[in-house]
Amino acid sequence: GAAVTADISKLEDGQLIRVEWRGKPVWIVKRTPAMLETLTNFDDKLRDPASEDPQQPDYAKNTHRSKKPEIFVAVGICTHLGCSPTYIMKDFEAQVEGMPSGFFCPCHGSTYDMAGRVFSGVPAPKNLMIPPYMFVDDTTILIG
Ligand code: FES
Repeated sequence: GAAVTADISKLEDGQLIRVEWRGKPVWIVKRTPAMLETLTNFDDKLRDPASEDPQQPDYAKNTHRSKKPEIFVAVGICTHLGCSPTYIMKDFEAQVEGMPSGFFCPCHGSTYDMAGRVFSGVPAPKNLMIPPYMFVDDTTILIG
């Protein structure tokens, strides 16, 4: 089996951890209430806000793109040419004023929000891919 488990019992608010799954980096982020609150502020600036891409799993077809709202799981590979985006955490005021927390790809400047949804007008064509995963219990995620 190519599945891996991740222990998220020590994951803190706003923290991102990486696990490797099939040679790819998978991110697990515990989103803060502020991050979740501001997710919908930017829908009109996103290429695919409702994640209608059929290649994405059904549980990614919601605003937070995850099974549990606070826990975000995504493949940490830019959908443009495969670089690794950088996680950028902003405080609540900055997010409300129009600089949301999210992910920035240094290769060609693509930007994604805290649900991995790509902004319009950048090279990346798609939202970050959401891998298959399930919660084994409250603090253990099985990826794959
Ligand atoms: Fe990320 Fe090109 S690889 S913007």
